Amino acid sequence: MEQSRETFGSQIGFIFAAAGSAIGLGNIWRFPYLVGMYGGAAFLVVYLAIVLIVGVVCFIAEVSFGRHTRQSNVGAFKSVNKAWAPAGLIGILAGFMILSFYSVVGGWAIRYFFQAFAGYSFADPAASADFFGAFVSSPLAPVIYHGLFMGATIYIVYNGIQDGIEKYSNIMMPALFVLILILTVRSLTLPGAHEGLEFYLKPDFSRITGEVLLAALGQVFFTLSLGMGSILTYGSYLGKDDNIPYVSTVVPLMDTLIAFLAGLIIFPAVFAYGFQPDQGGGLAFVTLPAVFDAMPAGNLFGGAFFFLLVLAALTSAISLLEPVAAYMIEEYGWTRNKAVLIMGTIIFVVGIGASLSQGVWSHITFFGDNFFDFLDNTSGNILLPVSGLVTAIFVAWVWGSDNALREATNDGAIKFAWGNLWANVLIKYVAPILITVVFLSSIGIIPVGI
Ligand code: PFF
Repeated sequence: MEQSRETFGSQIGFIFAAAGSAIGLGNIWRFPYLVGMYGGAAFLVVYLAIVLIVGVVCFIAEVSFGRHTRQSNVGAFKSVNKAWAPAGLIGILAGFMILSFYSVVGGWAIRYFFQAFAGYSFADPAASADFFGAFVSSPLAPVIYHGLFMGATIYIVYNGIQDGIEKYSNIMMPALFVLILILTVRSLTLPGAHEGLEFYLKPDFSRITGEVLLAALGQVFFTLSLGMGSILTYGSYLGKDDNIPYVSTVVPLMDTLIAFLAGLIIFPAVFAYGFQPDQGGGLAFVTLPAVFDAMPAGNLFGGAFFFLLVLAALTSAISLLEPVAAYMIEEYGWTRNKAVLIMGTIIFVVGIGASLSQGVWSHITFFGDNFFDFLDNTSGNILLPVSGLVTAIFVAWVWGSDNALREATNDGAIKFAWGNLWANVLIKYVAPILITVVFLSSIGIIPVGI
């Protein structure tokens, strides 16, 4: 039975797909705005530490678990232990919630791509902020762009052409990377850039609180696409001879590099132009036009940048819709087309609420947040880490970390230098305990402070 499941043609196919899922709006939009809100370099340091200690460790666990069971999310838990099936559901719910606001931001990126034709020169920083605010708070335009983004996602998954899109997109990703490098140089050489660099790279550890730790933890899961079955599902397509420790390090490394560079573009510009670093979800959209405006052929660079960003966001969105649809197919026997259309449409409708909460519905709050932030915070800070915790515990203690290590090393055939550390310490104790401690500290049970 195992033989009949299709696998990626090669290891590089997995790397393409997983990087396509991981690299997206999380790196360019979400990461910088969290850094800005949660204390700059202090957040960055915590984030990098968590990528290493929890991110890569859980990534290896998800890929191994996926390849071993050759199932997607809920099915994977079930096939090892029936009682654990609900564990996979947390991830499905997270994916559903994430895609509904993710698609709204994807729509913003499409809108900013079109801005290339009119140009990115706003009169001054305040005008750029006004432009963004007026756009996202209007009742119709952002909903239409959200519809375009979600429509494209549904179209791709419906027609089962995600492989093609992923390959195509990953050929374009080096272009995004080069563009990011060029923008980094431009931003770093802006007059007044040093203040931004200091904010981004010189940590003030007194700013670390439980809330900062939780936001960083949530962002690690979000950006690596962990905790909702995307990476697990891709792992299920990985070939028996492929090198799990290798692919599980390369993808997070690329992802982290892109996020880090995004910060190097945004923060120098934030301070050079007098923007507010802690303004939240508008940060990248408000700041980047100033960077484009300060370059020759800025419209061209800006247009290319947002085009590639939309593409990167689409490959992530595909990997969000796919597990949600797969769940309806596997659990309820829906046809693929029905699952994609119905779930995609529901996500679109929920996303309309997220979009309107930036304007006409901003007064409606859930636990103090507007609907958009509620979706963003609940999925990122609660559902993904909880799902990650459950997966880590399951892999280490129910399936068993020895079995997991055997899977990760292809029965000992490949070298995994820190494999024993991973199996006996990191996935068994360090990752679950750290996630738990961060949760407890964020609700004030364990105090953090230096
Ligand atoms: N990792 C994607 C990003 O950083 O943009 C978002 C994402 C995709 C989150 C898939 C979760 C997921 F399962």
